[in-house]
Amino acid sequence: MAMKYTNIVILTGAGISEESGIQTFRGVDGIWENHRIEEVAHPMAFQKNPELVHRFYNERRKKLQTPEIRPNEAHLALKNLEDNSFAHFLLVTQNVDNLHERAGAEKVVHMHGEIMKARCLSCEKSNEHFEDMTLESVCKSCGTKGRLRPDIVWFEETVMHMKEIMEHLRLCDLFICIGTSGQVYPAAGFVDMVPLDCRTVEINLVPTQISSLFKEHYYGKASIEVPRFIQQLISGK
Ligand code: APR
Repeated sequence: MAMKYTNIVILTGAGISEESGIQTFRGVDGIWENHRIEEVAHPMAFQKNPELVHRFYNERRKKLQTPEIRPNEAHLALKNLEDNSFAHFLLVTQNVDNLHERAGAEKVVHMHGEIMKARCLSCEKSNEHFEDMTLESVCKSCGTKGRLRPDIVWFEETVMHMKEIMEHLRLCDLFICIGTSGQVYPAAGFVDMVPLDCRTVEINLVPTQISSLFKEHYYGKASIEVPRFIQQLISGK
């Protein structure tokens, strides 16, 4: 059943991966409850104490690769939507995990980078990195040693893929925002960048500080609400 929407943009945040066992950043037991952003997620932090920053990302990368961490029903429902969208489709994620890809999603852009990737400060190339990153790590592209950093967008750094994202938002007729607290820009402002007649939907456990900007809201767990909403979409409701 081809849906009536011609240009779909999805924005996901940490909430879509929470039921897969990945910590969110804010709220109960959030990552920022136990780590200071300026110590582990800022370029100055990497300048000052690269070992601490590597440890922070190595721990999260190792956890992501454990067998119990896998895509949940919400990730799979988005893959189902992508397969049933005979239109333009873009899945924008703020998450640095690879659960969308592991659910089979193809048109995914990581605006805050990817924890499974390393970026070389010498050749600027980004490459897959699966083991712990240290000051001894060697770049797989240029062979330089000790110049790798996590391929993550830190606070005060420029987010990625904005040109492509803006192009899709400008023409969007269905914008679905899932599992983000709406506290970090530019992602939190995307709902303001879609056309006036765009259908805007927020799916979250609870209302957020950007809820008032959406026309529709579905509150509950992503693994329940996302599949339910997408099933309705695909069946043409
Ligand atoms: N189902 C749906 N929503 C959920 C669930 C769930 N099971 N669990 C949590 N949430 C919601 C919370 O209600 C909250 O609104 O997910 C959101 C998580 O918010 P944050 O932890 O702030 O994560 P996010 O919005 O993705 O953070 C944005 O901030 O720290 C930076 O770069 C980091 O990408 C991150 C950005």
